[in-house]
Amino acid sequence: MKLLNTFLSRLVISLVALTALQLEAKTLTVGFAQTGAESAWRAANTASMKNEAAKRGINLKFSDGQGKQENQIRAVRSFITQGVDFIVIAPIVETGWEPVLREAKRAKIPVLVTDRTVQVSDESLYVCFIGSDFYAEGKMAAEWLAAKVNGKGNIVELQGTPGSAPTNERRKSFADGIAKFPGLKLIDSQSGDFRRSGGKEVMEAFLKKHGKAINVVYAHNDDMALGAIQAIEEAGLKPGKDITVLSIDGIKEALQAVVAGKLGCSVECNPLFGPKVYDTISAVLAGKTVAKKLFNVDTLFDAKNTAAIIASREY
Ligand code: AHR
Repeated sequence: MKLLNTFLSRLVISLVALTALQLEAKTLTVGFAQTGAESAWRAANTASMKNEAAKRGINLKFSDGQGKQENQIRAVRSFITQGVDFIVIAPIVETGWEPVLREAKRAKIPVLVTDRTVQVSDESLYVCFIGSDFYAEGKMAAEWLAAKVNGKGNIVELQGTPGSAPTNERRKSFADGIAKFPGLKLIDSQSGDFRRSGGKEVMEAFLKKHGKAINVVYAHNDDMALGAIQAIEEAGLKPGKDITVLSIDGIKEALQAVVAGKLGCSVECNPLFGPKVYDTISAVLAGKTVAKKLFNVDTLFDAKNTAAIIASREY
């Protein structure tokens, strides 16, 4: 009897150890629904997510939404069918996510929202958000501009994708910021869809319509600002002298334009948060509580601080 008891308890211990080993060895599978490839910022964000997954031995199922929410929703449904361990979404627009998030919840697959926020009536539909504070970025841009032009000037705005969180927030905070300066006037505002070609086309149209009345271009991202700079130069004007250009992201090419004096400032929006996303996923799967919103720390680059850091810029 004693022998049988010893045998049984050893068997139980071995089984527990085996299960623990199997759990440890199980590869983590993450489905990532990316917006698309609209900008240099986006390319850096995708690279950060992919490279970090490869480093950690995570099986990353990557889907490029090609700028369409319906593609992203289809990708999330496919991740659910495949039974991934975690879903990460960088939502193109803020609304329209509730049904598919409910489907993920019913399937007991946790969802992490990254880069752009979602508007949902039930916050328990996603675990947490990781990204930048877009409202703070637009506010920093408005404050920098007011100081640069002494609170005076006609502004044209290049908006990002309509309905997206960065467009909504950067627009609102910039408008709130310049409202304190009656001499700063927003004379036109159009979407360039976060694309360089979009920024160039819209700027050409602004220049045709408003000509030399334009003193300032506020672009919701660097790619559109770089497109606008090209349009300004092609119109025979000097960016940085005839027209002050400012934008958001802090990509290397924009910082080079800051050093060249063509771009006034770029407010950083750091895209390299792959490590933070996977650390958070591991913490959640280990049963730890994580903050609902995790914001990156961003800074502003202008003529004062850019030359010193440009060589080490990663994206
Ligand atoms: O959501 C972040 C924004 O999306 C970046 O500012 C822009 O460059 C990108 O496409």
